[in-house]
Amino acid sequence: MTTMNTSERETSADLYVPTPARVIGVQQMTDLEVLLQLAFDDGRALEHHPGQFVQVSILGVGECPISICSSPTRPEHFELCVRRVGEVTTHIHQLKEGDVIGIRGPLGHGFDVAELHGKDILVVAGGLGIAPARSLIQYVLDERERFGTFHLLYGARSPSELLYREDLTLWRESPDVNFHATVDQPDEQWRGRTGVVTTLFRELPQLNPTETMVIVIGPPVMFKFVVLEVLARRIPQKSIYCSLERRMKCGVGICGHCQANNVYACLEGPVFKYGQLKALREAIE
Ligand SMILES: Cc1cc2nc3c(=O)[nH]c(=O)nc-3n(C[C@H](O)[C@H](O)[C@H](O)COP(=O)(O)OP(=O)(O)OC[C@H]3O[C@@H](n4cnc5c(N)ncnc54)[C@H](O)[C@@H]3O)c2cc1C
Ligand code: FES
Repeated sequence: MTTMNTSERETSADLYVPTPARVIGVQQMTDLEVLLQLAFDDGRALEHHPGQFVQVSILGVGECPISICSSPTRPEHFELCVRRVGEVTTHIHQLKEGDVIGIRGPLGHGFDVAELHGKDILVVAGGLGIAPARSLIQYVLDERERFGTFHLLYGARSPSELLYREDLTLWRESPDVNFHATVDQPDEQWRGRTGVVTTLFRELPQLNPTETMVIVIGPPVMFKFVVLEVLARRIPQKSIYCSLERRMKCGVGICGHCQANNVYACLEGPVFKYGQLKALREAIE
């Protein structure tokens, strides 16, 4: 990947200019997460890769990085899943259909989907990690003939925190994906599996170590245990991808907020190979 040097980046004023995008749909998914559908008024597509993110700007409030959770194979609009945690995300939660916000991007380095073509795929997502994972999941399902077997494991803390419920039903019923979900803390209605996401590994058939690519997206604590399970199945480190959310400000390699060791996560990530991440111990500890 080619990256700009600092002076080139500083003169690229366009990198800081948001493009107006209109909210064309809003769906409250849980108490904390909302799903936004967005489109540019001129009808052009976002043209992203699965795993990339955008900077969302709310006029007079600020900006924040959010993963694109829809696939580029569905170019009519793009989707963002936003958890309400602070000022910018609270304003995002107040948006209504027809409102206009600013979008910078797509930004960052997503999944190299060409490298995934022809391979068996295992996606392991925890918590809000299902948001960036969904872009890739939709991509694999839309381009199904390009991939081998497709396994998807998803863990949430409780049933009320499960995201994309309509998708979960589709994935559960689809012959195109071997999907399993679990929650750490069940409620009285929950009839599914209970336990942390690594317990779902017992649902998997034997994986072919040379033909399987693994994508792990979730909180750092989950990441460590999932990678141990994957390595125990003799999957090489170079076949493991993960997505890393460092704190970011500019999103374009200028401010240094996302720096881990000598790497700017906004430019070289958020998607990394496991081998790269191991070298960035600071980022995962
Ligand atoms: C590449 C990338 C992709 C992301 N994708 C998504 C996404 O798809 N959906 C989503 O809801 N969020 C995502 N985030 C996190 C999101 O950017 C932050 O939650 C947001 O910036 C918070 O802004 P705020 O003004 O609402 O809260 P702030 O007032 O800035 O912060 C409120 C609280 O959230 C904490 N916080 C802020 N940023 C982060 C962060 N990056 N990670 C963990 N805690 C944080 C702060 O420490 C504070 O406790 C992503 C972050 C990155 C870097
Ligand atoms: S967010 Fe500014 S350098 Fe990465």
